[in-house]
Amino acid sequence: MDNLVPAPVRVGRNDQGTGFLPDHSTTLLAGPGTGTTERWLRSALGASLGLPLAPARPGDEATGNTVELRVDPALAPEAYQLTVAPGTGVRITGGDPAGVFWGAQTLRQLLGPEAFRRAPVASGQVRPVPFLEIEDAPRFGWRGMMLDVARHFMRKDDVLRYLDLLAAHKLNVFHFHLTDDQGWRVEIKRHPRLTETASWRARSKYGHRASELWDETPHGGFYTQDDIREIVAYAAARHIRVVPEIDIPGHSQAAISAYPELGNTDVIDTSTLSVWDTWGINPNVLAPTDTTLRFFEGVFEELLELFPADTSPFIHIGGDECLKDQWKASPAAQARIAELGLRDEDELQSWFIRHFDTWLTARGRRLIGWDEILEGGLAEGAAISSWRGYAGGVAAAEAGHDVVMCPEQQVYLDHRQDGGPDEPMPIGYVRTLEDVYRFEPVPPQLSEEAAAHVIGTQANVWTEVMQNRARVDYQVFPRLAALAEVAWSPLPAPGERDFAGFERRMSEHYARLDALGVDYRPPGGPLPWQRRPGILGRPIEGPPPNV
Ligand code: ACM
Repeated sequence: MDNLVPAPVRVGRNDQGTGFLPDHSTTLLAGPGTGTTERWLRSALGASLGLPLAPARPGDEATGNTVELRVDPALAPEAYQLTVAPGTGVRITGGDPAGVFWGAQTLRQLLGPEAFRRAPVASGQVRPVPFLEIEDAPRFGWRGMMLDVARHFMRKDDVLRYLDLLAAHKLNVFHFHLTDDQGWRVEIKRHPRLTETASWRARSKYGHRASELWDETPHGGFYTQDDIREIVAYAAARHIRVVPEIDIPGHSQAAISAYPELGNTDVIDTSTLSVWDTWGINPNVLAPTDTTLRFFEGVFEELLELFPADTSPFIHIGGDECLKDQWKASPAAQARIAELGLRDEDELQSWFIRHFDTWLTARGRRLIGWDEILEGGLAEGAAISSWRGYAGGVAAAEAGHDVVMCPEQQVYLDHRQDGGPDEPMPIGYVRTLEDVYRFEPVPPQLSEEAAAHVIGTQANVWTEVMQNRARVDYQVFPRLAALAEVAWSPLPAPGERDFAGFERRMSEHYARLDALGVDYRPPGGPLPWQRRPGILGRPIEGPPPNV
């Protein structure tokens, strides 16, 4: 079929006959290791189609009316083959359980946009799946989206909805940015004030950091440990790995406001700090003391319990935008530099990050951080998220470190997607659907060996100007569909992208997003709030663009 998103590696079409249309007697023939997909097909696709998709009886063979699921380790991890044929119905063979699941996502797309509705559709609205054979496998093992729930909190149910949206795009990494200056969002039982006080701020800047507008409504929220367990389990059932991020030693004003001893108390009176109410880079960073190290070891101990190693092999420790002014002014920080024989504050940051690298490695996890953690020397085994362009990623990959390419110039979805006057509260520069589609995660100058260290890519969704779910949807879609294709599909030829072909396939994908209730930016026609006034919860007009 020629409207799948992301595009599969190969489709062979057999034009004989009308194809496969599931009905009340369609059964699922689920082989060993395919339980997640069996459950998903019954609960998600079965609910959309209004069909039971009952389990086949033990010993049953494939018929023209079965969906057979099986794992064949001869295929690569996450790869799948999907065959639809008259005598054997649908057969999805995955290289592993994840591959079977991605094959099931393709099956849903083949049934047409109505198969994406939450409520059962009337019979006749889904279309038969043509007899065909698809062979497919992802280009990258890390295909992700980062969601910032610190600048604006997203309710648990909406996070679960995003996991469904990632799965529908064959994305398999959810990077969960849980802490920042403006709010702490995860319950840590031994440090209760992180959520009692640090999860709420008094007001929010409305627009970018130079804006003079304020939303005076207190803003906050957090996930209980049970909420987190539910999110992690929901992701695991969709073969999505969760990468929790605790951003240290910068971006920590919320934590310092709750526990002033974490800050540089010999430089400022940290007891006067509150959860930050504006945006930008904040000077109030953690003090490089034993107190801070022990405090965050405690945080990570609870975090590792909440995010088990099988689904969260990586733990993100941030490391970005840590201003060094307070460390320069702090006698305690300077004494630490002298005691450790370090050259400067950059090396002090490195020492701080290395401490947690050693700590996480000893517990069987891998540290990942923003590319600033390269400065002053990168801890062995650490991976980086290359966000300030490609340079950090290139340097890290050449030094043998794994890299997730997510340069802000290309895949920061907070940047507006059109230069027109209708964009709500514009921020940053214009990055269109086509710009994201043309993003190439592997820079051409990398040797083959270094290129193999580019383990994937992700889009980053910073939510300073995304005050609710509708606004997040608008910024994320349709551009996340382009990112999904960058991450999954092979290039037609080295350095080439067929954007016209993608746009053609997107015309069906918009109908899928409609069925899923996504407030995406349509390629033409009215914007979501022109059809449904008020969904942004704020006036559309904002301060002028900041770039
Ligand atoms: C970042 O955008 N500060 C990682």
